[in-house]
Amino acid sequence: MQSIPNIDRFLPDLTKLAYQTFQQGKTMFGLAHKTLSNQLTDLFVPEQQQKTKPLSSETLEILQQRLVKLQEADWQDAQRGVYPASLLFDNPWSDFFRYYPEVWLDMPKIWERLQQKEYQQFASEIDKEGYPAYYLQNFHYQTDGYLSDLSANLYDLQVEILFNGTADAMRRRILAPLKQGLTAFATVPSQQIRVLDVACGTGRTLRMIRAALPKAALFGIDLSPAYLRKANQLLSEIPGELPQLLKANAEKLPYLDGYFHGLTSVFLFHELPANSRQRVMEECFRVLQPGGVLVICDSIQSLDSPEFQTMMENFPILFHEPYYRHYTTDNLVERLEKAGFVDIQRENHFVSKYWIAHKPA
Ligand SMILES: C[S@@+](CC[C@H](N)C(=O)[O-])C[C@H]1O[C@@H](n2cnc3c(N)ncnc32)[C@H](O)[C@@H]1O
Repeated sequence: MQSIPNIDRFLPDLTKLAYQTFQQGKTMFGLAHKTLSNQLTDLFVPEQQQKTKPLSSETLEILQQRLVKLQEADWQDAQRGVYPASLLFDNPWSDFFRYYPEVWLDMPKIWERLQQKEYQQFASEIDKEGYPAYYLQNFHYQTDGYLSDLSANLYDLQVEILFNGTADAMRRRILAPLKQGLTAFATVPSQQIRVLDVACGTGRTLRMIRAALPKAALFGIDLSPAYLRKANQLLSEIPGELPQLLKANAEKLPYLDGYFHGLTSVFLFHELPANSRQRVMEECFRVLQPGGVLVICDSIQSLDSPEFQTMMENFPILFHEPYYRHYTTDNLVERLEKAGFVDIQRENHFVSKYWIAHKPA
């Protein structure tokens, strides 16, 4: 009798193929969306697109190579058990179907803001009391900045489109260094390990940390009540203890000195003015235990990615980002050292940069 081929032998290959196809689908979708929305913006606000420069074929080639590398790193980390392979396919599908039409419906408001050059516009019912002035911006030209439920509902979708479907793969690159950093606390029971995500937004990073560290106590802070509400909703869907979310300014963290074993922060620092970047790092240092690890993920910088200079110049024009230009040349290693961190490593993955910093033991 002919034997049935052992499907298990082929499962990793099939899963990898499924992952690559899934990622390619997201990339194609992001590109198609941006092509169409850029054409429309061109029609309604022609002067906006004229301010940007086209990317050279060499840049596009390098981008493609880095994209392939990112996906390989993502796949390999899942293979070595940094996180379960199921995380590679985690996608907010119901939000996608529910809110994708809203992304288009919001565009006329964005064009209006662009035409009027009005980037600090908030609905009258939004309470703007108590926020730092630098925060009251329509970042990415978003309606209501970070301060409405509509903005929170559209955010993840918009970020995935912005990064051509790679936002989650870039976020996941914090997980290996975080877990590695936490090995300094190997004698601490897993349930007693505390990790804080600074500026957690809608909780995408916390979702990933939960998958990688199922037993740890997780915490998240953000300035936006609407984003925290969304994070609470999305984090309630997954198994495990619900992370504790607090509304707070990262410049003044509401925690005791040395409370956390690990800290993460994703896509925050480019949205802060320079002095706030420094204060946030100092606060991170304060709330970290001696021997603890801080892992930052943010945009690439001109300092070490000159090949993407045109892209970095286009970004703050296409997406309202008032602090980005300064960020691209800001030496965060110096800032981290000034805050007290040591043993600082850097990595780049696709269009993100990572800093892994330690508090002296
Ligand atoms: C680009 S989003 C990144 C969100 C999330 N980390 C992610 O990976 O998508 C920036 C986030 O930083 C938050 N934020 C900005 N300034 C902050 C501050 N000073 N303190 C706390 N959160 C802040 C915003 O509310 C927003 O949720």
